[in-house]
Amino acid sequence: MSILGIFLVLPVLNGFSMKEYCHKKDFSCEQPFFNQQEKLEFGRCSSINVLRRISRLGMIDCVRECLVTSQCKGINYRPDWQMCDVVGEIIPEDIGHEDGCMYSNISTWPETLAGECRNNDCADGEKCLFEEYKVRCEQVYCENNPNADNAISDEKFGIHKNLGTGLKFRCKDGYKLQGHPYSFCMHSGRWETQFRCILIGTEISNEFPKDCSDLPMNSKSGVYVVSTNITVFCDMDSDSGGWTVIQHRFNGMQTFEKNWHEYKTGFGDVSGEFWLGNDNLHAILSQRKYKMRVDLEYLDGNTALAVYSGFNVGNESTGYKLSISGYSGTAGDGMTDIYRNSLNGMNFSTADRNQDMSDTQDCAELKRSGWWHRNCATGNVNGLYRPGEKGDDVMHWRTLNGTYSLSMTRMMIKPA
Ligand SMILES: *[C@@H]1O[C@H](CO)[C@@H](O)[C@H](O)[C@H]1NC(C)=O
Ligand SMILES: *[C@@H]1O[C@H](CO)[C@@H](O)[C@H](O)[C@H]1NC(C)=O
Ligand SMILES: *[C@@H]1O[C@H](CO)[C@@H](O)[C@H](O)[C@H]1NC(C)=O
Ligand SMILES: *[C@@H]1O[C@H](CO)[C@@H](O)[C@H](O)[C@H]1NC(C)=O
Ligand SMILES: *[C@@H]1O[C@H](CO)[C@@H](O)[C@H](O)[C@H]1NC(C)=O
Repeated sequence: MSILGIFLVLPVLNGFSMKEYCHKKDFSCEQPFFNQQEKLEFGRCSSINVLRRISRLGMIDCVRECLVTSQCKGINYRPDWQMCDVVGEIIPEDIGHEDGCMYSNISTWPETLAGECRNNDCADGEKCLFEEYKVRCEQVYCENNPNADNAISDEKFGIHKNLGTGLKFRCKDGYKLQGHPYSFCMHSGRWETQFRCILIGTEISNEFPKDCSDLPMNSKSGVYVVSTNITVFCDMDSDSGGWTVIQHRFNGMQTFEKNWHEYKTGFGDVSGEFWLGNDNLHAILSQRKYKMRVDLEYLDGNTALAVYSGFNVGNESTGYKLSISGYSGTAGDGMTDIYRNSLNGMNFSTADRNQDMSDTQDCAELKRSGWWHRNCATGNVNGLYRPGEKGDDVMHWRTLNGTYSLSMTRMMIKPA
């Protein structure tokens, strides 16, 4: 062990020593400059509006994280855990008693600690990074709070909003749980809540909406659980709302070159890019009669839509057989093959399960998409995401603009 090492593990003497709060590698932290107790409120912390929680971080590094994080107004620091909370806007009354924790108002610290990131203009939910001589912003927390009505956080130190985190909840007294008691802050920056707390005594069968059209009036667009246990994104804005989104693409982050099993169970993030899953689709569609709407957009901002007054998908043993009818809209009927025969009655095909009607080609492979291919299909919304390019395998809607790649597609359903 080096002499320096021995020095650093020396026990802390009585009273305040900054070293106690510093990370092993953070030598500057122990300097007299920072040794100002008046910056710190001992035995007090905020359990409200914790934007981020970071473990194994020294206190000065915690101050730095606050200075580079949008909306940060202070830190909670728990030396015993080397745990840093980056805290947003609070009122002084929100700072409660907590042994072994201390709050520090960020306005008591010099902004220069943020280095190149001082005066950054990152958006809410983001932090500033300085890498390779460039300042950039990165999403690190969910801006809003999770939808968790009638639930209490089961987290030891309360809710935080780190991107990618899963928070556990339990229901308040008098309420019972339906679903999995978690809420996830997804990489899209939105929460996905996988449960509801319902009043004990209310009938389960009536409690869950069958689909987004059952949500109370003036519900906001967002993630909800429908049809007992299916997590979906509800579009409550387009065409008087109530739409259950079943497919969405807009940035190419999620690949759609997936196999039978993946199309069966669904993939992606329902508040980002995703395919809801053929089993989920079948489960929702078998509850009522539905219409289906496809929204399309090109890079230059041109938009169009196709609406089908009848839409249904069979179960797996029927090959997820499609029923589709009653086209109207501005995009042209892309639910047809190149001979303009409707895709009605077709099975679903993926690269590993060819069920199309073409004798000469494997449509799912050619079009690089799982779909109800016939002699392939003129709409290829599950194709490759290559906006600006052209080709059989890219995401296109031939009846609208040949095989030019779209930049956005969205499919959604609503009771007919
Ligand atoms: C932090 O300090 C600023 C400036 O002194 C003050 O306006 C604000 O109320 C303080 N915040 C808390 C939570 O005490
Ligand atoms: C969802 O609920 C249905 C009954 O409504 C049940 O058959 C199915 O197994 C459940 N799926 C999961 C993943 O819990
Ligand atoms: C699948 O659907 C068909 C046709 O509706 C039905 O006859 C069959 O029983 C279903 N199979 C399963 C496993 O639910
Ligand atoms: C469609 O699926 C059904 C049920 O699995 C199967 O019997 C039929 O052969 C499939 N059709 C094609 C063209 O693969
Ligand atoms: C078709 O796509 C091309 C290339 O993206 C674009 O320039 C053109 O405006 C599009 N036409 C329509 C009708 O959207």
